[in-house]
Amino acid sequence: MKDASPQALVEIETDGDIGLIRLSKPPVNALGVALRGAVHAAHQTLQDDPAIRAIVLYGAGRFFSAGADIKDFGKADVEPTLPQVLKALNNSPKPVVAALHGVAFGGALELALACHLRVGVPGLRVGLPEVKLGLLPGAGGAQRLPRLTGLSRAIDIICSGRDVAAEEALEAGILDLIIDAPARDAGIDAARQVLSGTLTALQTDSLQVAEDDASVTAARQRLAAKRPALAAPLKALEAVCAATLPIDEGLARERGLFMGLMAGEERAGLVHAFFAERATGRIPEQDVPPRDIAQLAVIGGGTMGVGIATTLLIGGYEVRLIEAQSDRVGAAQEAVTANLAGALKRGKLSEAGHAAASTRFTCSDALDTVAEADLVIEAIFEDMGAKTALFGRLDAICKPGAILATNTSYLDVNEIAAATARPEDVIGLHFFSPAHIMRLVEVVVADATAPEVVTTAFALARKLGKVPVRAGVCDGFIGNRILTQYRRAADYLLLDGADFAEIDAALEAFGFAMGPFAVSDLAGLDIAKATRDRKAATRPASERYSRVADLICDQGWYGRKTGQGYYLYDNGKATGPNPGAMEIVKAERQALGLRPQRFTPDDIVARCLTAMIAEATRVIEEGIALRPVDIDAVELFGYGFPRHRGGPMLQADLIGPETLIQRIETYAKDDPQFWQVPALLRRMQRDKRSFAEMNSGPKTTEKGQAS
Ligand code: 3HC
Repeated sequence: MKDASPQALVEIETDGDIGLIRLSKPPVNALGVALRGAVHAAHQTLQDDPAIRAIVLYGAGRFFSAGADIKDFGKADVEPTLPQVLKALNNSPKPVVAALHGVAFGGALELALACHLRVGVPGLRVGLPEVKLGLLPGAGGAQRLPRLTGLSRAIDIICSGRDVAAEEALEAGILDLIIDAPARDAGIDAARQVLSGTLTALQTDSLQVAEDDASVTAARQRLAAKRPALAAPLKALEAVCAATLPIDEGLARERGLFMGLMAGEERAGLVHAFFAERATGRIPEQDVPPRDIAQLAVIGGGTMGVGIATTLLIGGYEVRLIEAQSDRVGAAQEAVTANLAGALKRGKLSEAGHAAASTRFTCSDALDTVAEADLVIEAIFEDMGAKTALFGRLDAICKPGAILATNTSYLDVNEIAAATARPEDVIGLHFFSPAHIMRLVEVVVADATAPEVVTTAFALARKLGKVPVRAGVCDGFIGNRILTQYRRAADYLLLDGADFAEIDAALEAFGFAMGPFAVSDLAGLDIAKATRDRKAATRPASERYSRVADLICDQGWYGRKTGQGYYLYDNGKATGPNPGAMEIVKAERQALGLRPQRFTPDDIVARCLTAMIAEATRVIEEGIALRPVDIDAVELFGYGFPRHRGGPMLQADLIGPETLIQRIETYAKDDPQFWQVPALLRRMQRDKRSFAEMNSGPKTTEKGQAS
């Protein structure tokens, strides 16, 4: 018997005395109010059917379920809530079997834990990843998982949010058995074993959890040290500890902690980041089929070229790396080989994958060997003359239809395209260093770039596991343009009285892994100086210019690589601020007649963040970025913006246009050239609009919005 309408979220079916409930809500069977209501009703129907002796729940499509519907977060709870549905399942007098395939994450695993028996199929991954969304399991997961695994393992799984493979789940007691069959058949098989008495079905809520003070104390110390800025992991620990209480007390305690986190900014930031990662794929060209690409070439065997070649090899492509200077070919080849070995060590490549990648790689100085490449990525030094000359040669060498991409960080892609007779095939693919690790790729679309070249670039980046973001042509595109203003705000704070260590500490407390001056030391002060020197001729005379970094460079202090920069280094490890650099700062303040002001950590963060937001607003106004959420993705995946803060545009919405305008107008009293209110911000204040509202519309969906 089958009972389903085409729109049905669940399908009820019977197989003898077994009732089956199939979850069917593409793409991931998210347990929003409609699906969980349908599961609740279907369960009730089968409960009431005297011919049914056992019930099986399984999922249609690729997964059992991805858990609660993340889009519902921040909205009012609607009954039946997930905890109510799960309580009814657990109290069910008939045995209920969860048959899991693909993934069962979050609320989906919680649903399975509330059933009386869990069968997995090979390849299944389960987990409670709520902490990654600034939450904790809020539908009984923190109470029922420890009832099956014990406290210590539950703390590990819940507080890390990590995936657990089927085999580990079986060993830990999360699964009762693994059956190599489609989930439906596995469920029926398990249910039959329960009915025949070969397997025991247990009511999870009836189990007890032993105290384990040692594990709890160790976890508390570890979490406080590792993630001091995050609330969710420690709250999750508190929720797991409640599992030693009677079940209903524990469930109530867990739900209270869950609702507290749900209302917090950490949850808003992390959920925004989750959707930002996925929203960037919604581009005007998205319906145009991409070109096929199999063979790729990378030109330039420096750090960028080596990193790009590595990521392409890990992605399964055939790669030719061309280094024009023959005496550097060996070094480039060795660097790629070392990167691949690192990927093997980190588990990014299997043994077989590593061996295959090595055979797909060649490195030489012969540019004409790229003739058959489907896509060529140029990663030579940042010089327009060199790039246009190279693109002219590539145009002559490469086969028709080959895509010619430049990895430039700020140069004009239109000018580069104009050096070829096929500007429609030219695009910017701006990877971030180290390219085999960093996930952002700015896809820079020039005036003549063909739509299928854009979709090919997006498809490639996604295949590499990257986050591609569509950007227009301007100096620095999205990310480096915003970075420049952030850096300038930090440099001005330094001149005006904040010490570089104070600035770094304030931004690190906000959540950046490193403050701007520590980053400069790492990147090399000489590199940034070369860029400033190049731009000196076009810098407006009215622009405030801090000479501090130049003066530090004049000492031969280029940062970490020379042992001195803003900080002193011993064997590459910072040992403290460089007193010589502090002297330079003080002398420069004196020379400029500046009386040092006091800045609190909040002032420092406010100025740096406001400078980023103001520039990002201009980037949107000019159409360089499609939407605010794309800017957040750039900052999160390319520039180390703290994930739990969601990105500068989410922060801008939390601060509000009124406060931002007030701040800019106040700062502008000292420096009206740098601090200017973008017109869009004024319009947003007038129309009471948020950046989140600009994420909706034809280019994206509501999912790009802050929830
Ligand atoms: N809710 C709503 N939408 C979801 C979702 C969820 N739980 N999980 C995925 N989606 C959406 C994605 O946004 C995407 O939408 P789009 O195509 O419109 O952009 C679509 O489903 C497909 O997702 P992916 O692109 O990520 O597909 P993949 O195949 O790469 O990955 C996945 C699938 C492994 C399920 C991955 O999406 C994932 O990890 N999802 C999040 C799982 C999660 O965190 N669950 C916990 C939720 S919190 C919870 O359950 C609270 C509870 O304790 C009360």
